[in-house]
Amino acid sequence: MGKAKRIGILTSGGDSPGLNAAIRGVGKAALGFHGMEIIGFRDGFRGLAENRTMALEKNTLAGILTVGGTILGTSRDKVHRMEIDGKMRDMSSAILRNCEKHKLDALVCLGGGGTQKNALRLKELGLRVLTLPKTIDNDVAHTDATFGFDTALGIATEAIDRLHSTAHSHHRIVVAEIMGHRAGWLALGSGIAGGADVILIPEIPYDIGRIAQAIRRRSHHGTNFSIVAVAEGAMSKEDAQAFASVERKREKASSKVEREAARLELETLEAKHAGNTLRLARHLEELTHLESRVTILGYVQRGGTPSAADRLLATRLGTACADLIRQGVHGVMVAARGEGTEAVPLEKVAGRFRSVPADHGWIESARRVGTCFGD
Ligand code: F6P
Repeated sequence: MGKAKRIGILTSGGDSPGLNAAIRGVGKAALGFHGMEIIGFRDGFRGLAENRTMALEKNTLAGILTVGGTILGTSRDKVHRMEIDGKMRDMSSAILRNCEKHKLDALVCLGGGGTQKNALRLKELGLRVLTLPKTIDNDVAHTDATFGFDTALGIATEAIDRLHSTAHSHHRIVVAEIMGHRAGWLALGSGIAGGADVILIPEIPYDIGRIAQAIRRRSHHGTNFSIVAVAEGAMSKEDAQAFASVERKREKASSKVEREAARLELETLEAKHAGNTLRLARHLEELTHLESRVTILGYVQRGGTPSAADRLLATRLGTACADLIRQGVHGVMVAARGEGTEAVPLEKVAGRFRSVPADHGWIESARRVGTCFGD
């Protein structure tokens, strides 16, 4: 292959602050520095399959550094299972055809865990793919950080700061639900920075009795309010055991029927877990006799202008991506490593995720300032 001339770019998965900064980083470096052409695909892999494009020129890339969301639009569609006209279809061939039609020398996919898997699928079909790690959850494997996390961390911390007023004034327990289904980075980081009294994360299954005990202890010492920062995916020890047992069934399943049965069982458990934060608050109220309230931070955490750190990270990764394309490198995720970047093969990243290690320094520090993890 000669020098890359034309690249495609898309954003996939949940929107996240810093996506536009990354599009701008890749785009400006590709256009202005390397003299390549760049074309955007709308709404993630769906737009790539349906050949819906957006011209990315100097003007389009200007003024987007500070803008939240993604100018390209996004979706959670999968390459091999996309609902088209009410039917699940494998869109791999359509995607290959469209990449050929646009004479792409490389395709850049910005996204989290799901995006890495889709990108690997395309790599295996022969496409020259590169990815950048984006997610407020900070849970992409083999990168020091993902863009979006720092902004969400700031938003969730400010929310916890503000919740203190009501908790303190009304002598209440305020349970703040923070995003993060599989990994607790956001709840942990904002919980520590916001001074939450209890932090519950998926990596540390909790015992509600222990949480109530910690809250009662505070009351005995004259502090009759508490802030509980709970990740969406945090669960009790019993629930964690139930999930683990179904996961084991799914792994061991030797037939399609067994796999499908385990999948359905998992879905039922997930549906049951959906209202966990509300149940947790009610239960804590019963156990402590303190009034409890819930605040679900939700999509506020993903919205708005990216922090300076996220703009920097997205620009660093985006420009490094354009450099790698120019060098003819593909089939990799452009990871953040120390002050620099590293090209990590997609095979190492796809299907993995980065959870909070049990001995992580943040957890150790939180324990030393008296934070309860419910364990
Ligand atoms: O992956 C980012 C994330 O914001 C998670 O923290 C959250 O659980 C999920 O997306 C929500 O997904 P959706 O946008 O599909 O509701």
